Amino acid sequence: MDKDSRLKLAIQKSGRLTDHSLDLLGRCGLKLSRGKDQLMAFGENLPLDVLFVRDDDIPDLVQEDVSDLGLVGLNVLEERRLEMAARGATARFEVLRPLDFGHCRLSLAVPEGMAWKDLSSIAGLRIATTYPALLASFLKQNGITAEIVTLSGAVEIAPRLGRADMICDLVSSGSTLQANHLREVHTILKSQVVLIRTPVKLPEFKESWISRLLLRIDGVEQVKESKYIMLHAPRSALPRIRELLPGSESPTIIPLEGSPDKVAVHAVCRENVFWETLESLKAAGASALLVLPVEKMLN
Ligand code: PRP
Ligand code: ZN
Repeated sequence: MDKDSRLKLAIQKSGRLTDHSLDLLGRCGLKLSRGKDQLMAFGENLPLDVLFVRDDDIPDLVQEDVSDLGLVGLNVLEERRLEMAARGATARFEVLRPLDFGHCRLSLAVPEGMAWKDLSSIAGLRIATTYPALLASFLKQNGITAEIVTLSGAVEIAPRLGRADMICDLVSSGSTLQANHLREVHTILKSQVVLIRTPVKLPEFKESWISRLLLRIDGVEQVKESKYIMLHAPRSALPRIRELLPGSESPTIIPLEGSPDKVAVHAVCRENVFWETLESLKAAGASALLVLPVEKMLN
């Protein structure tokens, strides 16, 4: 296959981000043919193929132009950036968009029984982590001296095994900490998924598909909260009703055949529409209220 005619996008093979990443691509219209354990899936209807890799490998695959694009957590990206900086190198991947999934935080946590006052409590302790560069930078910024114990996984059991006094790890729901009797005490970095691209200038065809993909991704993010509202209202109630419609720009006002004093109002609301909103609209004189999900949006 011609290298110049198909985009490659790297995503996490199996983990927290996998399903959301595939879901986003599906909403962007991509249909993938994928054998269960294959490392690459072919885009059947778009010139876009997906590579399934370890998330920690995604920044390098993208900056070395093995993959044109990547979906990866900011936590992994920032760790790699700092690691490179420490070696005098500059990270070259380019962040295109933060995306609204994979929210988590890199936090310090201590065993439940351990006394904790503030950051000064860390001095001289051993902290286990898989994010040594982010942790080192945090300690340096705060003028704290502590020992970093770099592990490749299962950080949460390090205190029980006596390998460390506390940990610095990702927290999403908090259930891993809870299950291991650890208490979150300080957040070092807030993270979410970002879309990154290669620093290399791509052939026009690929560049134009990246632009199209970005528009679709923006559309997908917008429709998540958006609703289409339809209602009937007396003309006199319009000013009040427009105030009540959450996050809508200019609603369409349509005359109603046979009722000169009444109109139909159609509006896209960029925020979630709650029962309370509908109740207020009704109280303001609206009737025949209808709320529909928005499936696609392109601006
Ligand atoms: C993180 C972290 C914890 C877990 C926390 O791992 O290492 O194990 O998620 O999530 P919780 O607060 O919802 O319990 P991740 O899924 O990022 O895997 P990886 O580090 O192996 O990529
Ligand atoms: Zn990982």
